[in-house]
Amino acid sequence: GERNGVLKLPYEFEELKPEEKEELARLYASEPDFVSIGPKRYIFLRPYCDDAENVYNMPLRPSDIFVATYQRAGTTWTQELVWLLANNLDYETAAKIPLTDRYPFLELFMFFNKKWQESLLERAEDKEQAKALIENIAKPVTGRLLAAPSPRFIKTHLPMSLLPPKLLDTAKVVYVARDPRDVAVSCFHHSKLFRVLDFPSPFKDFWNLFIRGLFTELPFFDHVKEAWECRHHPNMLFLFYEELIQDLPVVIRRVADFLGKELTDEQMTRLCDHLSFDNFKNNKSVNFEQLREFNVLSPQEVFIRKGKAGGWRDYFDEEMTEQAERWIEDNLRDTDLRFPNIIT
Ligand code: A3P
Repeated sequence: GERNGVLKLPYEFEELKPEEKEELARLYASEPDFVSIGPKRYIFLRPYCDDAENVYNMPLRPSDIFVATYQRAGTTWTQELVWLLANNLDYETAAKIPLTDRYPFLELFMFFNKKWQESLLERAEDKEQAKALIENIAKPVTGRLLAAPSPRFIKTHLPMSLLPPKLLDTAKVVYVARDPRDVAVSCFHHSKLFRVLDFPSPFKDFWNLFIRGLFTELPFFDHVKEAWECRHHPNMLFLFYEELIQDLPVVIRRVADFLGKELTDEQMTRLCDHLSFDNFKNNKSVNFEQLREFNVLSPQEVFIRKGKAGGWRDYFDEEMTEQAERWIEDNLRDTDLRFPNIIT
């Protein structure tokens, strides 16, 4: 349906089932206010409803570059890589301007409902600074993007079906996928890192929610398959986290080709060094540590955490391992999507 050139979001928002809400309330310390969208039941925090149609209708430019993932698949790593290649390896600017400012994040605002905004303000030592932070991250970015200079770099964890239907006809998308078991472990830590989510229960409980699609922007396989189906589109580059881990230079060349850029061997060496886990972890422009002073991060956790493939093995007992295999097998039956099998 279209009215005045504005597409209606072709999906309904729905409340979770009472028993799902109860379970979430029991397992989370924060009672996350989830709603689901559409027949695949993609999960969102309620404020997302306010901007979903604006996102679906956002005006696009041929110079736009989206980095899209299901979260914790290597978004940040890929963002920095893409940005540097697209900006002639301008390390100086990359160090000066935090990645979060270089890439508006389409649905970030949904994590900052009124209640959490108030609690942030209340606990802040520097109220003015906290107000500025809230102003910056608790509001949809679609409005700000209208006036942003080109090229625009955009971060999202939205599935393709919630992004503008003509996205790939106009803009470029780099999508990154990762073994869902490692994603689940990483999301588990993420839910501890960001105090707004606050998940104090054991990993097994998180895993059981994860495979049932009860975490933000799940279900996982629908998300990945929607992008996988577009992988042959010339404006889509589909990557696996495991490929970056296994052979970063090869991936860098693919991204460079995709963006129409070239780099010398020397430039390649420097870029790989810049993107190495240890350097990345200590890089203040990408590691989210700037958020720490605002009390939004838990002291025991960091954003750039382990950076391994196959680390899930330390978290899964035998029962979960079998359950995971079955779940993956079931979900790969109707597709030729396969995750690269590497362990580091
Ligand atoms: P782990 O939690 O398994 O360590 P995202 O940016 O999508 O949120 O993904 C975060 C994951 O990417 C984290 O996974 C993080 O450690 C990993 N990561 C970030 N930078 C990395 C790098 N330079 N090398 C390897 N892994 C990296």
